[in-house]
Amino acid sequence: MAVHSPRDPVKDTSLTATSESPGGRGQSVKCPVLRARGITKSYKRGIWPRRRDLLVLTGTDLELCAGEIVGLVGENGSGKSTLMKILVGALDADAGTVETAGRVGYCPQEPLLYERLTCEEHMQLFGVAYEMNADSASASAESLYDSLGFGRWRDSQVVELSGGTKAKLNLALALLPDPDLLLLDEPYAGFDWDTYQRFWDITAQRRDAGRSVLVVSHFVTDQQRFDRLVEMRDGRAWPR
Ligand SMILES: Nc1ncnc2c1ncn2[C@@H]1O[C@H](COP(=O)(O)OP(=O)(O)OP(=O)(O)O)[C@@H](O)[C@H]1O
Ligand SMILES: [Mg+2]
Repeated sequence: MAVHSPRDPVKDTSLTATSESPGGRGQSVKCPVLRARGITKSYKRGIWPRRRDLLVLTGTDLELCAGEIVGLVGENGSGKSTLMKILVGALDADAGTVETAGRVGYCPQEPLLYERLTCEEHMQLFGVAYEMNADSASASAESLYDSLGFGRWRDSQVVELSGGTKAKLNLALALLPDPDLLLLDEPYAGFDWDTYQRFWDITAQRRDAGRSVLVVSHFVTDQQRFDRLVEMRDGRAWPR
């Protein structure tokens, strides 16, 4: 179990599958691969003497099982991205714990890319960061260029890419190590229709392979694609 909490930053143990529960397609799946408990988070806002706390998460609980695609919905500012960052360990919570099993991939809402590096250089850099060997990183990158349709941009610097192609690279970098748990924050903003369809094909294949995906989405039309929806409201995650 990889556990992180504000006072106990990161522990490497293993989150053992603790139960079986019915999956969205009626099959029995292992639970949980992600378990967040009592997450609270506030931000400091404004400058003195008007400084105040903005309480965003008030005790959020969330679990994901293997082979589940879960949609995280909620109005703008409800705390979806804040929760995602805490789940992946990019932001410290004020309280609560997060436990994950296996490798985690994260696609942030704002692509975190280096303007002067090419797509290929990003793939190599992230391959090293994920401790992949060069051959498997290269094979995975080829397959992602192909499935997301942006291979012709492989030698272009990020500064030269369109918004949609940057979004493809952002998603490809999260998928590169074939993570067990994928956290995607509005991954398809800017995708054309074809790429959007391919995104859902990739996601369905991941579910079939027993991988888990948590996707922040605003689109009502996506709802039938998820096994279940969770709504952020009043600082907590509610089943919907
Ligand atoms: N670094 C920060 N400092 C101060 N306030 C922040 C910070 N990041 C987010 N917030 C505030 O926290 C609240 C939740 O923001 P968050 O980005 O998590 O919402 P969201 O649900 O992802 O919204 P959206 O649908 O617009 O992406 C908002 O009121 C936002 O202004
Ligand atoms: Mg957001």
